[in-house]
Amino acid sequence: MRKLIIANWKMNPAGQAMAKRLFAGIVSGVRGVYNADVVICPPFIYLSGLDSKKVKLGAQDIFWADKGAYTGEVSGKMLKSLGVKYVIVGHSERRAHLGETDEMINKKIKAALKLGLKPIFCVGEKQRKNNDYYVFVKNQIKAGLAKVPKKLSKNIIIAYEPVWAIGTGKAVKPQDLFEMATYIRRVVFNIFGKKTAYKMPILYGGSVNAKNAAKFLNVEGVNGFLVGGASLNAKEFTKIVKEAAND
Ligand code: PGA
Repeated sequence: MRKLIIANWKMNPAGQAMAKRLFAGIVSGVRGVYNADVVICPPFIYLSGLDSKKVKLGAQDIFWADKGAYTGEVSGKMLKSLGVKYVIVGHSERRAHLGETDEMINKKIKAALKLGLKPIFCVGEKQRKNNDYYVFVKNQIKAGLAKVPKKLSKNIIIAYEPVWAIGTGKAVKPQDLFEMATYIRRVVFNIFGKKTAYKMPILYGGSVNAKNAAKFLNVEGVNGFLVGGASLNAKEFTKIVKEAAND
């Protein structure tokens, strides 16, 4: 499977001119890279100013209704009108700071799929004190994908992002990542069957950088990354993409 490298800029950079510069830096850095797909997820407000044939656009969130009295929210239809193809759903920072529940995340995933947007569904345990983090991740996946029609399931991407690894510099160990990716695929198999499970991209996110990317790219069953901090530096992010393309 081709590797998929997704930049999650979070609430950065501080202004539109900087966003355009960063975007341009990444686009020129990945010119000539053909064996990996690149998606950039900037804050909503920058989406309309960014455009490239090479790099696809993603949003960091979506609301489940198409329009109406939902102050401050952005719908999938609005995103589509700006050329957005992907959307991050259920990021742990939204779960923690904005009170996003599994139920809300499920509605958002269904809304994205209905419109043909690819949801990047984030799951991951808060801590690894005992073995129940497997069950924790399984429950997140089952709740997020509840009643999703099987025929739409081919557009789902799962990003495994253990909360303890995000922005901490403490990435997961490759062997642990292998075990979790295998487990996640089995959970998906039990929900949607073999075809979806086999083809679904499973990404890793949590302190990925240009130095550690290679060791995760070698992990069987891991199809790319969701990159936070390191995606704010065009050179660093480009290195990660090139690493993935050479794999
Ligand atoms: P990080 O963030 O790469 O800065 O750890 C990843 C994410 O939260 O998507």
